[in-house]
Amino acid sequence: MSSNNLILEKAADIIKSGGLVAFPTETVYGLGANALDPTSVKKIYEAKGRPSDNPLIVHISSLKYLDELVLDVSDVAKRLMNEFWPGPLTLVFKKKPIVPDETSGGLDTVAIRFPENKVAQLFIEKCGVPIAAPSANRSGKPSPTRASHVHFDLDSKIDMIIDGGSSEYGLESTILDVSNDKVYLLRPGSITKEMVEEIIGTIEIDKNIFNNASPNSVPKAPGMKYTHYSPQAKVTIVNGELDIVIEKINILAKSAMFKDGIIKKIGILATEQTKDKYDNNMFLILVVGDRLKEETIAAGLFKMLRKFDYHNVDEVYAEGFSESYVGLAIMNRLKKASSYNIINV
Ligand code: TXA
Ligand code: MG
Repeated sequence: MSSNNLILEKAADIIKSGGLVAFPTETVYGLGANALDPTSVKKIYEAKGRPSDNPLIVHISSLKYLDELVLDVSDVAKRLMNEFWPGPLTLVFKKKPIVPDETSGGLDTVAIRFPENKVAQLFIEKCGVPIAAPSANRSGKPSPTRASHVHFDLDSKIDMIIDGGSSEYGLESTILDVSNDKVYLLRPGSITKEMVEEIIGTIEIDKNIFNNASPNSVPKAPGMKYTHYSPQAKVTIVNGELDIVIEKINILAKSAMFKDGIIKKIGILATEQTKDKYDNNMFLILVVGDRLKEETIAAGLFKMLRKFDYHNVDEVYAEGFSESYVGLAIMNRLKKASSYNIINV
């Protein structure tokens, strides 16, 4: 048996005896437990410090497990599964009673994901049960895209971390609710709204994707109402035409640095195209990715938000992105990281 195989055997034994294992997926690292065992699932909420009304995604390693978990799979859902599974798409179905309330957050639906990452697939397969897994970060922190991020957030609280290198996509899966006639986009991700609409036609979009959830507009994905992805630093997004954005960030960053008579540490979230337009003697400039390859920005976002914390930055100024294609998901996460602190120029 190869050493990788031994690691996965050990991980599966931990799951079978009710423990917690962090594992890589193509989106972000997950914190897994036996989805059908309420006692195991409760440990996930404890380790993360996560509110228990926020349901978990159930991960499967083969379509054969789906019927056991969900009541009905519509034709639309089948078309989406054909096109995008395995992959970074989560589908919400009506659940069967076998799925405990602890996993579904008391809802009558359950979110299912079939990841394409091979380590994830092998791990789930060896466990022999569906795996409930939220992102493997402390609640409220940016999702982990490296084993070291999980280590930093949760090491003492979980039984094992499987290191599978960097996550390919870097943002959590797209979530679609297919439990009713109308399909809703609940969380944008790397499978874009445009890609989905090409397969099944126009879909509805949960308005909370763009703005902060207000008390009278509860997001359909309960997790979307919580503060998320927040670094320690205060984050400000500056949005608009790129040249004006750069000029504005330079002005804001300088004045923030010398405000209140103490010198503050200022970070700038820049891109390949703009990194040389800021003074790197004054500010910590981190390049999130290449504007012409949006997927690089998605892949770098959480890593860079964590890096500002690592360097004890007080305030971050971030360039905004357009909200189409993967940009919708990037801005959704960035806006949450900023607590909707956005300056339009
Ligand atoms: O890419 C991902 O989806 C990662 C990896 C590990 O697979 N997982 C992940 O899980 O992001 P988590 O727990 O961080 O986010 C799950 C989201 C939450 O916003 C939750 O409210 C929503 O899915 N959700 C789960 N079950 C749901 C349901 N039955 N109906 C609506 N939303 C649901
Ligand atoms: Mg999460």
